[in-house]
Amino acid sequence: MENFIYKNPTKLIFGKNQLAQLKKEIPSFGKKVLIVYGGGSIKKNGLYEKVMATLNEIDVETFELAGVEPNPRISTVRKGVDICKEHKIDFILAVGGGSVIDCTKAIAAGAKYDGDAWDLVTKKSPVEAALPFGTVLTLAATGSEMNAGSVITNWETKEKYGWGSPVTYPQFSILDPENTFTVPKDQTVYGIVDMMSHVFEQYFHPAANAPLQDRFCESLLITVMETAPKLLEDLENYEHRATILYCGTIALNGSLGVGYRGDWASHNIEHSVSAVYDIPHAGGLAILFPNWMKHVLHEDVSRFKQFAVRVFNVDPEGKTDEETALLGIEKLREFWSSIGAPTRLADYNIDDSEIETMADKSMVYGEFGTFKSLNRDDVLAILKASL
Ligand code: NZQ
Ligand code: ZN
Repeated sequence: MENFIYKNPTKLIFGKNQLAQLKKEIPSFGKKVLIVYGGGSIKKNGLYEKVMATLNEIDVETFELAGVEPNPRISTVRKGVDICKEHKIDFILAVGGGSVIDCTKAIAAGAKYDGDAWDLVTKKSPVEAALPFGTVLTLAATGSEMNAGSVITNWETKEKYGWGSPVTYPQFSILDPENTFTVPKDQTVYGIVDMMSHVFEQYFHPAANAPLQDRFCESLLITVMETAPKLLEDLENYEHRATILYCGTIALNGSLGVGYRGDWASHNIEHSVSAVYDIPHAGGLAILFPNWMKHVLHEDVSRFKQFAVRVFNVDPEGKTDEETALLGIEKLREFWSSIGAPTRLADYNIDDSEIETMADKSMVYGEFGTFKSLNRDDVLAILKASL
């Protein structure tokens, strides 16, 4: 285990009827509040009205930025930054899924920066300050509600990058499972794939000794896989929504990954795919991850064997370690297919015509991945296996 310092400053407010907490949390930050939301789901399901009614009970002036895209764009971030600067916004409230929260993080940092917010995403300039912001989460998936990361797309240049800073943790996040009841089946599946993928990015690490972290990761995966089929049969089941919501947050709030460095290669490749094709992030992950696993298996077959045995109950008796490991990967693919996740890029009508472009985009910061460092040929092999 490597040395680590773990601090997560986000206050998690979990459960039914917690929206009223906005009245306690927001006033200390100031009076001018920018509400950021997506393409309209919160208007359809009534959450928008509830948020506004709650804010009307306190002495704040509200401003709005609507229309944040899934895979949020820098053009929308810029609009938000302009509003913050023009109206001297004190606090931002994100009401939505990972895209709305990620966009809010970029707006918060952009509002405190003199240049173009894209400089912060590309790391051309360091992030030094950000406006305070909170979230009302509506979709279990990214963990953005309790981490400092953000992923922003520049559609003009077809680039999509992750960035983050200690100043871009939400001040608080309100997680009411009922606010996720209206997430449609396909988005619920994507969320499940995304949170499992976040665990994989951390579980497949090169550290010699992280037994507790391994068990935490395995428990989370087993819990998600036990709950997912029941939830997909009953999308308004409070307990199942609550379990998945909490799993999504824990999967990427930094607690699983202490004491070693996670891999994150599959996420990097996926971001290049969705930068070019604008497909759902977790749709890309469901396709790529098992192919990444097969590609890197020989770096440490014993870790994949542990995964197969502990998470999928594969019986290793009479099998080589490689056979056991491959069965685990096969079972993951089967599980994701069983809940309706895509298996090939062809499912999104993606052929090999842009494969070189996607490989180039993956390599902008050079070789990547800690479990196995990937070069351009590795990326091409994984993409070709995914066609
Ligand atoms: O835009 P609206 O109308 O709100 O609809 C959204 C959107 O169409 C809808 N939705 C959200 N909550 C809903 C709902 N529909 C009905 N009822 C509700 N309660 O769902 C669609 C997808 O929303 P989005 O926010 O895009 O999904 P998600 O939370 O999966 O976020 C995906 C983005 O997060 C990034 C991804 O790259 C992608 O851009 N990621 C961010 C990470 C982070 N910050 O730590 C890590 C992740 O690995 C990921 O890369
Ligand atoms: Zn992800």
